[in-house]
Amino acid sequence: MRAAARTCFAPATVSNLGPGFDLLGLAIEGIGDTVTARLTADPGVTVERIFGDNGRLSLLPAENTAAIAATSTLRLAHRTEGIALTIHKGMPLGSGLGSSAASAAAAALAVNLLLGSPLKRSELVAAVLDAEEAVSGRHADNAAPALLGGLVLVRSLDPIDILRLPIPPDLFVAVVTPDCEVSTRAARELLPKQIPLRARTENAANIASFVAACYTRDLGLLAASIVDPVVTTPRLGLIPGGAAALDAAQAAGALASSISGSGPSLFALCHTRATAQRAAAAMVAAFAAHNLAAKPVISPADGRGAREVQDPLA
Ligand code: HSE
Repeated sequence: MRAAARTCFAPATVSNLGPGFDLLGLAIEGIGDTVTARLTADPGVTVERIFGDNGRLSLLPAENTAAIAATSTLRLAHRTEGIALTIHKGMPLGSGLGSSAASAAAAALAVNLLLGSPLKRSELVAAVLDAEEAVSGRHADNAAPALLGGLVLVRSLDPIDILRLPIPPDLFVAVVTPDCEVSTRAARELLPKQIPLRARTENAANIASFVAACYTRDLGLLAASIVDPVVTTPRLGLIPGGAAALDAAQAAGALASSISGSGPSLFALCHTRATAQRAAAAMVAAFAAHNLAAKPVISPADGRGAREVQDPLA
């Protein structure tokens, strides 16, 4: 007999990675959300409990990303079972680490397992995308790496087409989250609706060279590609001490640094774990100089995607 409840974890993700607004993202280790999906007698999706959100997330299924993804998973699988969700938030909200996508990815995978895996993992991206669209905007650069792991490029959303990129060996990410919040929706509304042709050409060149650097393992080229005046520059204004922290990471030996997703978390790509630790400490110190506490996470750049885990309440 199939288990009546399944529990999955999905990782935090660093999206955009400089030039790749809405189309590049990678999974990190050490931080993420856990969701348990349980079969219920009555059809429909409910949210039973949420831990770790300080009461801030909605229990209403239409407003909760895990519930939206669970509902979409049922629809995509043409199933009508009743599902109750319990969510354990393992990362701060509005942090630029794909918090909404992590809850949605964990829920989509747990529901799919509960149903006997009618959908392929890649098909679950559509369910997570539905959840992202409802809360911040239709982008899969957190959803895809949260589900699939590794470094991905979102070539298209319609139809969904996700490409996996090779990750140069020994690449680490230092992620630092300052104690302030940025709404993804607000950070998206801040962006220019049109960009000059020259900026568009420069951006295309940097995305292309980022991809080339991944294939050729050219860390110098990778570093040189993480340039993005169009999206990053206006958003840095939302992060007190952000510009100084990015400079501090570079001074500490990082290959490149930029905003993680819509911020306020920052990331630095580094060639060794030791350099990543130094870059993280430098960013934390830079935020401290602006009276902001900040939390570091060091991860290999090839973090794992969503996976089944033990129910934390079991
Ligand atoms: N690509 C999205 C953005 C990620 O930058 O708005 C949101 O974290």
